[in-house]
Amino acid sequence: MNRISRRTILWSFAAAPLGLALGCSTGTTVGPKSRGTEAGTSRPLPIPPLAPSTVDSAGVRHFALSAGAGTTEIVAGTLTETWGFNGSVLGPTIRAKRGESVTFTVDNTLDEPTTVHWHGMHLPAKFDGGPHQTIEAGGRWEPEWIIDQPASTLWYHPHPHGSTERHVMRGLAGLFLIDDAETESLDIPKTYGVDDVPIVIQDRRFTATGAFDESDPTDVGLLGDTIVTNGISDAYLDVTTGTIRLRLLNGSSGRLYNLGFPDDRAFDLIATDGGLLESPISVKRIQLSPGERAEIVVRVDPGTTPTLTSFPIEDGGGVNRSDAAGYGMSDRFDIVQLRGTGTRISRSELPEKLATISRIDPTAASVHREFDLQWFMINNQRMDMNRIDFEAEVGSTEVWTVTNKDNWPHNFHVHDVQFEVLDVDGRTPPPHLRGLKDTVYTPPGSRIRLALKWSEYSDPTFPYMFHCHLLMHEDQGMMGQFLVLEPGQKATPMQMDMPMDMPGH
Ligand code: C2O
Ligand code: CU
Ligand code: CU
Repeated sequence: MNRISRRTILWSFAAAPLGLALGCSTGTTVGPKSRGTEAGTSRPLPIPPLAPSTVDSAGVRHFALSAGAGTTEIVAGTLTETWGFNGSVLGPTIRAKRGESVTFTVDNTLDEPTTVHWHGMHLPAKFDGGPHQTIEAGGRWEPEWIIDQPASTLWYHPHPHGSTERHVMRGLAGLFLIDDAETESLDIPKTYGVDDVPIVIQDRRFTATGAFDESDPTDVGLLGDTIVTNGISDAYLDVTTGTIRLRLLNGSSGRLYNLGFPDDRAFDLIATDGGLLESPISVKRIQLSPGERAEIVVRVDPGTTPTLTSFPIEDGGGVNRSDAAGYGMSDRFDIVQLRGTGTRISRSELPEKLATISRIDPTAASVHREFDLQWFMINNQRMDMNRIDFEAEVGSTEVWTVTNKDNWPHNFHVHDVQFEVLDVDGRTPPPHLRGLKDTVYTPPGSRIRLALKWSEYSDPTFPYMFHCHLLMHEDQGMMGQFLVLEPGQKATPMQMDMPMDMPGH
């Protein structure tokens, strides 16, 4: 396999998305240089390289990931020790097509165990990469599955029990894009790194020496004062095509973002967590809680420089006014400046119809479950790796009622499925929650009903997870696990030695 030089490796720039850094063994430092722009330290947004893959004679697509430590110039002029996949921070963008078989070798060159979870992916539980699929230090893990879900922007990140926040915040996260035939034939921006650009949005704090500051968690986890996009702070993106599709991921630990532009321009929301919406929705803001994704299409006229901005969260995220600021709800940040450098607008209209979503029929649900979120618990229990919270039956449809009984913000994520939001506090969900979702924000006091369906995969041994995706909450045990079984199948859950009773900070 490729040995990655653990020096300051950052990715290539937008103009060369397939560029240098990944797997390059020259040891060259390719950290961005200042271009002497008006902002001084502003640097071009790095574009995560597409992960190389090989296809074997059986048509199986093979990828290699290696988690390791490195050093990254996140803030211009400052070196920070970071973790990354196949590089010093974040990871390459994995891309595969619906119907393809994929296999991975995932090497862990860190000096502690980790896991790699494919967030949003429908796949067998034993390849899900949750806390039961530990990759020991120096170890290797080889998951394989068939991609079978609509075109979407998923992501991958570690999920070691009690340490997810630390592993993700040090830099382990990457995008996993799924393509399908319907979407490939759509007339929407789709040239990776040119008019189809992923933006992993994270917030960080640094110590005086430039290390990540992992001290002083708030009730929502570690909050940063510096926005980091695709691994660097203060980034800009040249928009040469007039219209650009941004695939936005909230890869933060506990911060919500309320994204839009200072001139309140409208832009089109075209996809949520699990794929394209049926039609574009014109919006002025899109809010993302940790783990959520949105794809937007923005028009950037030549010569203009609108800055994608995170505004204070509407209604303070529903938390008490006195708490909102402490949870970062009133913060405003520049995320990335878009610079219209083209000479023309390459397209004016998006297709009216984007996708057909195969809807889950909630009246077919045979099982209803309730999940109460409070403190670090779901249904009054903290995560126990050796406790299966429920067993579900493959092929069945379920309706879940998720209630945030706290005065804390939480969200709710389920593995293996994309769910549908049936209602929010008894009302039809707003348009941006009518597509496929795997993570949904649950404001204090809210009650959200979800429809889910278990298909294909059953496993008597390995569970899937459901949890709050505020990473510190998850680490503190705000998580549960379930098995999906064949009718009549008997559970034989795996037992693990708990690495620690109480994950600490
Ligand atoms: Cu993105 Cu169980 O997590
Ligand atoms: Cu997940
Ligand atoms: Cu939470």
